[in-house]
Amino acid sequence: MQGPGSLCRKVELAKQGTLPVAEGGKQGDDQMAEPERPQLSPYQVELEAGKRYAWCRCGRSKKQPFCDGSHEGTGIEPLMFTAEGSHMLL
Ligand code: FES
Repeated sequence: MQGPGSLCRKVELAKQGTLPVAEGGKQGDDQMAEPERPQLSPYQVELEAGKRYAWCRCGRSKKQPFCDGSHEGTGIEPLMFTAEGSHMLL
């Protein structure tokens, strides 16, 4: 059974978008590391319409703000998305 601290931690991680979901849809926060904050200001990125991107949620990538695979073993996965248009964004 989970204590109230565990539930509060899951709610906080869900707000941050870092609550991992393991295969089968079970949440695996027992193995999850804390996300890092490599930069507090926005990143300027150029997105290409239709291209698939992996946005780093662990903060360990050397190619911020995109994933370079450094999240391996943290329990944190990148946020995958496809750019709807070609844009230069901050
Ligand atoms: S999610 Fe950060 S390196 Fe992959």
